[in-house]
Amino acid sequence: MREFALRALTDRKTQLEGIPAEAFIVSLGDTNPRVRAQALVSLGRLGNTTVADTILPLTQRTSPLPTGRPFHKQADPGRVLPHLGVQALIALNATDVSLAAIGGPYSDGALWALKYMHNAKAVDGLIARIKTEKNEQLKQQLLTTLIRLYHREGEYKSGWWGTRPDTSGPYYDRKTWSQSEKIAGAIKQAHASASASETAKHIEVQLGRHKVNVKGITAVKFASGKKGKGPQTPLVLPKAAGDNKNLIANMSYEAAAARAAKAKGDSLRGKSLFTQQGCIACHTYSNGQEPKGPHLVDIGKRYKRGELIESILKPSAKIAQGFDTYQFVMDDGQSHIGFVVRESAKTVSIRHASGIAQELAKGEILERKKGTQSMMPVGLVVNLTPEQLADLLAYLESLK
Ligand code: HEC
Repeated sequence: MREFALRALTDRKTQLEGIPAEAFIVSLGDTNPRVRAQALVSLGRLGNTTVADTILPLTQRTSPLPTGRPFHKQADPGRVLPHLGVQALIALNATDVSLAAIGGPYSDGALWALKYMHNAKAVDGLIARIKTEKNEQLKQQLLTTLIRLYHREGEYKSGWWGTRPDTSGPYYDRKTWSQSEKIAGAIKQAHASASASETAKHIEVQLGRHKVNVKGITAVKFASGKKGKGPQTPLVLPKAAGDNKNLIANMSYEAAAARAAKAKGDSLRGKSLFTQQGCIACHTYSNGQEPKGPHLVDIGKRYKRGELIESILKPSAKIAQGFDTYQFVMDDGQSHIGFVVRESAKTVSIRHASGIAQELAKGEILERKKGTQSMMPVGLVVNLTPEQLADLLAYLESLK
């Protein structure tokens, strides 16, 4: 019951007054890790900064890192308590305690928490320490932390991340803040005066990783890892034989839809149709693929068969959210029509109805007009029978 008793006590943020911290502090030493976890969460909610010193030791890992590969996909239960400890320090805004812990036994947890403390005291403390720190390894950790603080996350304005956020980290929406300039100055100074060449290199790598530009320092460039492979070929719409009454091309929408709805379909055959009919040019179907058109990884969960049929046979009937068609008029008089795949501060990546991707420089765009027709071509499956369409549907339904 201990875990739940602690949780109940701090469950309502409006009812925290007068709750003493003692029971929670004692619970940080509980034999059950679930109780320790809840005590950390509760102490963060209670907001009593004087307990930060007691929390600090729990930010330390006590079990080794996972050894499997790829690293980011390994379960890592040993990270849970340190993570909750760090989150509690952040919730308490324990800047002083974290700064004081640098270089001590809990230095890692303190620096981890400082990465989230966007305040002048944290920045000043890190800068002062960088200037005097003799241990190059610790100095590099301090520099990484300071570089992380250069940007902050943008304010949430209902939906700022759009449908395709920049997930390359560490921020979805990088913004500079009141301390950014001071941080850039300190980085520049540390770079110029770096006594060890590894430290200068370290700064260049970290600036690249964090997408921070400091005048006079060339950051190491990181490839996005999402470059297209090889030349692109435009999509060719299939032709249907004019006299075959069994093909979708030669029947009404209602008749085709009714037969496709009735047939069970074979998802294995449907999977090859997904490639054969060109769907693959615009759609991703498993996580981690280069973003294209709507991600169909869980389409079978979101859409019933009738809706799937409509989105394939009548793409413009309903336009999937975030995949509207736009016309871009460029300053050289050219015009491009497509849906937006990715958008950054400088470029817009679009994909045409031909399935081909193109990158447009934002500075060259004069006008952007929203259209009403889907960029998904009509007629992609007209050379199939409704039963073959049912195969394709069975495949889409298997994507959950
Ligand atoms: C030229 C690019 C392109 C091709 C090729 C293409 N689609 Fe699409 N598809 C889109 C776009 C853009 C949308 C979003 C606009 C809309 O809803 O029509 C979309 C929407 C969809 C949706 C609805 C998704 C949602 O989340 O609402 C489904 C299902 C779908 N397509 C299936 C297919 C299948 C199956 C094929 C192959 C027969 C195919 N698409 C071929 C571009 C394409």
